[in-house]
Amino acid sequence: MFLSDNIKVFSGSSNPALAAKICKYLGVPAGGAKIEQFPDGEKIIKCEDDVRGKDCFVVQSGCTPVDENIVEMLIFIDCLRRASATRITVVIPYFGYARQDRKDEGRVPITAKLVSNLIRTAGADRILAMDLHAAQLQGFFDIPVDHLFAEPVLTKHFKNKKLENLTIVSPDVGNIKRAARYVNNLNGDLAIIHKRRISANVVQACEIIGNVEGRNVLMCDDIISTAGTICTAAKIVKERGAKQVFVGATHGILCGAAVERIAEAPIDELVVTDTVPLNEDAKKLKNLKILTVSEILGEAIKRIHRNESISSMFN
Ligand code: R5P
Repeated sequence: MFLSDNIKVFSGSSNPALAAKICKYLGVPAGGAKIEQFPDGEKIIKCEDDVRGKDCFVVQSGCTPVDENIVEMLIFIDCLRRASATRITVVIPYFGYARQDRKDEGRVPITAKLVSNLIRTAGADRILAMDLHAAQLQGFFDIPVDHLFAEPVLTKHFKNKKLENLTIVSPDVGNIKRAARYVNNLNGDLAIIHKRRISANVVQACEIIGNVEGRNVLMCDDIISTAGTICTAAKIVKERGAKQVFVGATHGILCGAAVERIAEAPIDELVVTDTVPLNEDAKKLKNLKILTVSEILGEAIKRIHRNESISSMFN
């Protein structure tokens, strides 16, 4: 692939494996940068490559340790801006803090907006994000946001399984649009679970709208965090007579009790992508498969650099 010498792709410390795959797809070496810490934990980033006049991309996920990775992202942007990069695109495979995107009760913050403000203030010119928790988060930025989906990668995997009598289940009402995309591309029926979140850790699935009896079920979600949502949903579809239960999700955060919950849940296969690195316990799950989104991200970086359409990647 021909890319001008003008492009530089840097990796923060959140997901170097994904950044390396993106660079491989693009056929460019990873940008040189030294990320170090002062004894008190303060970070310092030294860009080792000349970026004056360059089109720079920084790959950084807002995954664990969330606050540290977000601050590192801001420092990286500041570093490139002060080194006279022409344009800085922040590639955010997983946007941390996105779930707090509205005041649904009094005296709470809107962290998604706060983080967007910080990224802009640090000096980012563009954002390249994947499966934002809510698409309208794009409007939190006053700079261009390209929003990618992992759905083509997950769909391809499930298409190859040639699943018959398939019902796509949205594990909560917020995921209906995502589920509808899978329905279109996999030719299944749609069912929806009405869930109630009792606390950050505890989820109650109340009812299913749609039929799963005797059907193979594919549940899709953007994030699996404590796995409360997906495991509760898996139990309820199984109780209602589902045959095999598959789960496809973009961001496998898998924190807290997630690994134990998934190990005990009636899930035949759980597929996540590499937008965040998985912890070692999660990697031991027998029914877990990890797919890479590096090609989608790499292709989008190439198109941004060449001023080509991104939306046509998903037509
Ligand atoms: C919720 O709106 C999201 O789409 C996910 O369903 C949720 O974040 C998953 O969280 P957990 O795995 O902790 O239930």
